[in-house]
Amino acid sequence: MATEHGVGADAAKRFAAEKALEFVEPNMKLGLGTGSTAAAFVDLLGARCRDGLNLTCVPTSVVTGRQAERAGVPLTTLDAVGWLDLTIDGADEVDPNLELIKGGGGALLIEKIVASASDRMIVIADASKRVDTLGAFPLPVEVTPFAWETTRAVIEQVLESCDVDGRETKLRLARDEPFLTDEGNMIIDLHLKRIGDPNALSYALNAVPGVIDSGLFLSIADAAIIADESGVIEVMMREG
Ligand code: 5RP
Repeated sequence: MATEHGVGADAAKRFAAEKALEFVEPNMKLGLGTGSTAAAFVDLLGARCRDGLNLTCVPTSVVTGRQAERAGVPLTTLDAVGWLDLTIDGADEVDPNLELIKGGGGALLIEKIVASASDRMIVIADASKRVDTLGAFPLPVEVTPFAWETTRAVIEQVLESCDVDGRETKLRLARDEPFLTDEGNMIIDLHLKRIGDPNALSYALNAVPGVIDSGLFLSIADAAIIADESGVIEVMMREG
C-alpha cells in the first residue's frame, strides 16, 4: 500500500529523481542535495557516471559526499569550480510560488550556498511536500553554538511580531545531545504552523545576531518535480 512515509513515498522519490536526470547534460557542473530524495538522485546519477557520463559535482553534505563517492560520481568543491550549472535537491515543503522550507536533514546552510551559486535549482519531491502555505513543517534555523539560548530568546521575541500561527521553538537533538550540522552549528526548529509572510520572516530571522540562516529558500528554486507512487504528477516552473 502507498503511504506517505513508506513504499509509496520511496517510489515517488525515485520517480522524481528519474525525471530530474532528464535535465542533466554531459560536462555539467552539478550541485547534489541532501536527504532521501536527493539520495535517490545520486544513486541514479552514479549509474550514469559509471556508464561514462562526464560530470563535476559538488555535494551539500558529508553524507551526500560519501554516497556520491561510493557511487562513482566525480566530486569537487564549490570554490574549485566557482559556479554550477544546476543543483538538484529535495525539500520539506514546496508552495505554489516555488518557495521552500528545507533543512529537515540539517544541511540547509550548504544547500542554500550551493543552490544560490547555480544557474538553476530543481527540487525533487514526493507529493506530501506540496503545500498551499509554508509552515506546517517546523522551520529549521541554524545558529551558532555560542550563546544559543540567548539567540533562541531573541528569535522568540522576533516571532511575536511575525505573521505566524505557532511560536514554539525547539533545539534539535540527536541521541539526547544537541544536533550539530556539518559546520558544527546548532539548529532551532520553529513550530510556526503557518507562515503568512515568508519574506518578512526570513528577513527578520536573518537580522538576529547568532542566526546563520534559516531553511526558508525564497526565489531560489526554478522548478519542482512532484511525484507520487504512480509517477510524476506535476512539474512546476518559476514564471519569467
Ligand atoms: C536536508 C533537506 C532535505 O532536502 C529535506 O529535508 C527533504 O528530505 P527528504 O528528501 O529525505 O524528504 O533539506 O537538509
